[in-house]
Amino acid sequence: MILVLLGPPGAGKGTQAKGLEDRHALVQLSTGDMLRAAVAAGTDLGRKAGDIMDRGELVPDELVIGLIAERMDADGGPKGFILDGFPRTIGQAEALDRLLGERNKTVDRVIVIAVDDDALVARIIGRFTCAGCGEGYHDVFKKPKVADVCDRCGGSEFTRRPDDTEEVVRARLKAYYAQTEPLIGYYEQQGKVASVDGMADIETVEKEIDEALKGV
Ligand code: AP5
Repeated sequence: MILVLLGPPGAGKGTQAKGLEDRHALVQLSTGDMLRAAVAAGTDLGRKAGDIMDRGELVPDELVIGLIAERMDADGGPKGFILDGFPRTIGQAEALDRLLGERNKTVDRVIVIAVDDDALVARIIGRFTCAGCGEGYHDVFKKPKVADVCDRCGGSEFTRRPDDTEEVVRARLKAYYAQTEPLIGYYEQQGKVASVDGMADIETVEKEIDEALKGV
């Protein structure tokens, strides 16, 4: 199965992708995580992408398309993958269709996670992530069961993203509405979209997504 998670920053794409990995044996491919790894490693790509990400703008299509093409073959997983944060422009969606077509595959389902802007800002500002396994948490909405210990891997080191400030989140939202939201229409024309209410709690959203994947 090839599943695209589409939604604004903070909608819960990463949170839901991790749950889907566990429940459906799919592999999460997150362009945001790949780009952050490139920045941390100081690669050529990381140097090109870092300042753009800090401003909350989108990294040029050719850079992320190259990244996803590479990882799709290396890390796609036997049962398929979840695309989290890709595609984000019509150009990326067209490139994805091409890349999958060359491999006799197609996007099976696009899950749109809808959340109000004010809730998004609150979610992002309170977010932190396990440095060991990438599991996402929130100061209020999703605390680890034992304080300072990751539920998933038992790690005790957590990080916060430099682009998770209110100012940068507003810029990321602007980029989402201008460049990414039009993808909903693109995939609706292909009859692949299922929308879920991302304002609900995490478990309810999980159930709605699983319902939308029945028969895929
Ligand atoms: P990226 O890393 O993809 O960030 P994003 O799209 O802005 O999304 P987030 O990771 O912030 O949010 P999310 O939807 O995953 O929410 P989460 O599950 O963490 O991209 C970062 C940057 O990289 C971009 O700005 C761009 O510069 C660049 N980039 C990446 N991909 C690119 C591409 N394809 N093209 C060009 N540039 C690209 O949840 C947020 C918080 O809310 C968490 O704390 C979580 O615990 C909590 N939460 C989740 N669900 C719920 C719920 N239902 N109720 C209450 N709390 C919840």
